[in-house]
Amino acid sequence: MKRDESSIIVIGGGLAGLFCALKLAPTPVTVLAPHGVGPASSSFWAQGGIAAAVEETDTPEVHAEDTIRAGAGLVDENMALGMAREARARVEDLLAFGVPFDRGEMGLLAPSREAAHTHRRVVRVQGDGAGRAIMETLAAAAARTESIRIVEGRVARRIVTQGGRAIGVMTRDEKGEASFLPAAALVLATGGIGRLYRVTTNPPESCGEGVAMAAEAGARIADVEFVQFHPTAIDVGEDPAPLATEALRGEGAIIVDRDGRRFLLDIDPLGELAPRDIVARGIFASIARGDGAFLDTREAVGSAFPERFPNVFSRCMAAGLDPRAAPIPIAPAAHYHMGGVWTDARGRTTLPGLWAAGEVASTGVHGANRLASNSLLEAVVFGARIAEDIALSSPPAPEAVDVRCPPRDAAKPQAELIEELRTTMSRDVGVIRDESGLARAIRTILRLKKEAADEGTAAMLTTSLCIACAAYSRRESRGAHFRADFPKSEPAQAKRSLFDLDSILRR
Ligand code: SIN
Repeated sequence: MKRDESSIIVIGGGLAGLFCALKLAPTPVTVLAPHGVGPASSSFWAQGGIAAAVEETDTPEVHAEDTIRAGAGLVDENMALGMAREARARVEDLLAFGVPFDRGEMGLLAPSREAAHTHRRVVRVQGDGAGRAIMETLAAAAARTESIRIVEGRVARRIVTQGGRAIGVMTRDEKGEASFLPAAALVLATGGIGRLYRVTTNPPESCGEGVAMAAEAGARIADVEFVQFHPTAIDVGEDPAPLATEALRGEGAIIVDRDGRRFLLDIDPLGELAPRDIVARGIFASIARGDGAFLDTREAVGSAFPERFPNVFSRCMAAGLDPRAAPIPIAPAAHYHMGGVWTDARGRTTLPGLWAAGEVASTGVHGANRLASNSLLEAVVFGARIAEDIALSSPPAPEAVDVRCPPRDAAKPQAELIEELRTTMSRDVGVIRDESGLARAIRTILRLKKEAADEGTAAMLTTSLCIACAAYSRRESRGAHFRADFPKSEPAQAKRSLFDLDSILRR
């Protein structure tokens, strides 16, 4: 029998949360996954794969060096090295669960190349289907695991604290009824923030509520100004935008303007394989000049496209584009949040009783710009570490507490208000920022906060406010944070930015 209740609660059903729950087995865990453990998570949508030094000529040390270089001076070097060293073991775990990673000669893992990696290092599944394959495999493993109870249709709204410790979570069901779930250990694994922007590669559920909940409970947040825009979202007027995986550029695809000219080499000698922030800004500028941007895969991939990148191929064909015949129109789209809830090497936040893993966390491994395919890696490395830390630290069972739940709230997310927020974030807190735009964004968000009538919308606004204020404060350009009014990096500002919500609201 699956237990009805457990004192370990994982908030989020993406890779970090699910992997943590599986690693905790046979200790009972409740996973709150309001929309299930499938396509509602960004993990499921990941095309690239998992970065791990599995080639003979590669090492975890070189993987860490690449991670540190891409992170533009803000990566916590010990954290990056620790993560790179654990990559192989976590890939072995996934193989043991049954993930069918692509194999090459003699049955060895066949890693591929992605931008800013000096080696072929990304282990993939069926070309561009890693996220889906990993999540389907782990969801099946979780369903077979007696100790894991997955709760759908119930969304976490507030982390409840007592005496400076997280003691549980207030949730709402689909009718808006609230209930309090006590927990000895809470693991926040709610994913990213893509929906705060007008166009994103993330599923619509990536609303950034985890950062807001943790910050409101008093946890420290870090580096939230660093939002990664994926350079090659397919520009067919859709949101979420379909992605053309970076692995295509790893295979030699080029980026051209509407005259067929390769313009990225003017910006960086690595051209299409420069770090993501540089490629995204180059494409953004070309589009802003009216020259457009296109991914030309004809020579590098050609007629093998359907077989080697089936996912991207079907998304292109559905939009009436045949990548074998013509270049794919592309534009940057919000993709990944480097910042989030600060954690230490064990995944502990500054709030006792609360751990954070995956995109919602800020472990310091990504710095100002994440290296491709380090996100799924971070999710499994820290998901496993948190499971180990909880098992070793045996957090005290919650005492019987009288937590009064707020009344029923059946308010629907405020569509118009959210659209204004997303337009503001894309225009003023997007690929290129400056002081007047950021100040305007902060004023708009503060006004919208007064109008927010439902908890989900309020959480989106709180997280957006944190991002805009952190971006306003960082008066330099670094990695994914580019300020047109401070276009250079300032060595004196090469430190992580740490905030608590009070310090932001006091501004
Ligand atoms: C991609 O396949 O380009 C995305 C992978 C990632 O974001 O790491």
